[in-house]
Amino acid sequence: MPRRSLSALILDRKSPVPLQSQLARQLKQAVQRGDLAPGEPVPSTRELAADLQISRNTAVGAYDQLVSEGYLEARPRSGLFVMEALAGHTLPAAVPVTTPAVRPLPRLTAPPPFHPCQPDVRLFPMGTWNRLRGRALRNNGSAILHYQSRYTMGLPMLQRELAAYLRDSRGVRCEPEQVAVTSGSQQALYMLAQLLLRGPGATAYLEDPGYFGARTAFAAAQARVTPVPVDREGVIPPARLKAGSLLYTTPSRQFPTGATLALPRRMALIKAAREGGAWIIEDDYDSEFRYSRPPLPSLHSLDDAGRVIYVGSFSKVLFPSLRIGYVVLPPQYVEAFAELRTVIDDHGPLIDQATLALFIAQGSLHSHIRRCRKEYASRLAVFMETATALRLPLRFPHTDGGMNLCGELEDSSVGDAALAARLTEQGWSVPPLSRYALESAASGLVFGFTAFAPHTIRLHLRRIAGAL
Ligand SMILES: Cc1ncc(COP(=O)(O)O)c(C=O)c1O
Repeated sequence: MPRRSLSALILDRKSPVPLQSQLARQLKQAVQRGDLAPGEPVPSTRELAADLQISRNTAVGAYDQLVSEGYLEARPRSGLFVMEALAGHTLPAAVPVTTPAVRPLPRLTAPPPFHPCQPDVRLFPMGTWNRLRGRALRNNGSAILHYQSRYTMGLPMLQRELAAYLRDSRGVRCEPEQVAVTSGSQQALYMLAQLLLRGPGATAYLEDPGYFGARTAFAAAQARVTPVPVDREGVIPPARLKAGSLLYTTPSRQFPTGATLALPRRMALIKAAREGGAWIIEDDYDSEFRYSRPPLPSLHSLDDAGRVIYVGSFSKVLFPSLRIGYVVLPPQYVEAFAELRTVIDDHGPLIDQATLALFIAQGSLHSHIRRCRKEYASRLAVFMETATALRLPLRFPHTDGGMNLCGELEDSSVGDAALAARLTEQGWSVPPLSRYALESAASGLVFGFTAFAPHTIRLHLRRIAGAL
């Protein structure tokens, strides 16, 4: 059988699809349609390259692919032929080639001005982190790349560093084995809801207004969500908590109002949990950021009844996409928590955990927190000075820490949601307080100040004053 020229094949030189892939696909289609019959010889690579004005390498590559996929076969001293054994088989029609539209991929973006709860990631010592990451890889060799199902609760080195850090900075007394490293504190909340809330309808008490990450985690466990009012001093402790229920709270800095819970209310919460046989989940997401004094000891440190479960996060002290949080579990829940984590994803990324353990051990966490505290304290001062000078129609409570300022609207007849929507349209992210409410009539705007440089704060507050 004579060799047929394949010069009728048309290659699109402007397409992002490489010529070799286009050629291989068209040859395959010719075989599938029967245009090239089983046993028929195909042109030599030299002829094909000359006919189609392509390089010989491109022709060789396309033919190699068809040989490896079983469309062509080489016969000694005769050249390449369409596979004889395909005779009598109907090959499926090829999927038509459509050149993928070249759409730009969405780019990662930074939060817009005043988006709450954002650390300034530009302050993060990436050079130190990368050096320690290299050391973590060298120290552990290739073992760190394997599944490590024994470490479903976290790398022991990180558990140990966390237990020591929490003891020294937050007064939390625990054994390293009680510390579970999770994918952000959100995973910890989700898993605790699954483990602690026995069956649909179990009660979860939530601060109102409060953190919607907690609300969604408890709702996913089909809890009966019961609001607990918050005033300017933080959560108002319920006199009684139902047996088997849990109460979620942010005592260091109530989210989103910013109140710090005073000692008598802390004691009342623990008493209610002890008497009711309920659990308290203490979310200590940003307690490191108290500016003129050291952070208050945790609720966990006051608990002599073993009812407080402590949850923390590196999203604020380091950076949120790290997705490392942790929970200090009551000893009786360690095993069940590990079993549940095995079902979810076995364990978290170990290279980051090993890096973080070194970062804490060599004092870099402390230095970074010190640096952020100083910077954020000055941003808080800039925010308050500017807001006062501009006479924004909002009342900001005095605060000595945190990452956000929650301004109450002076004119309560103005809806905070409509106001926030107007600001969002103009490129700011200042959520309304009502977004965090369950039943409360809270109204205001929540401004994050930590992620933005002083000149950005001044500039955008001035523009917002104009918009308001
Ligand atoms: C109250 C509260 N808890 C926890 C977190 C942190 O969540 P994660 O550790 O999942 O990033 C946030 C983040 O905004 C928060 O506002």
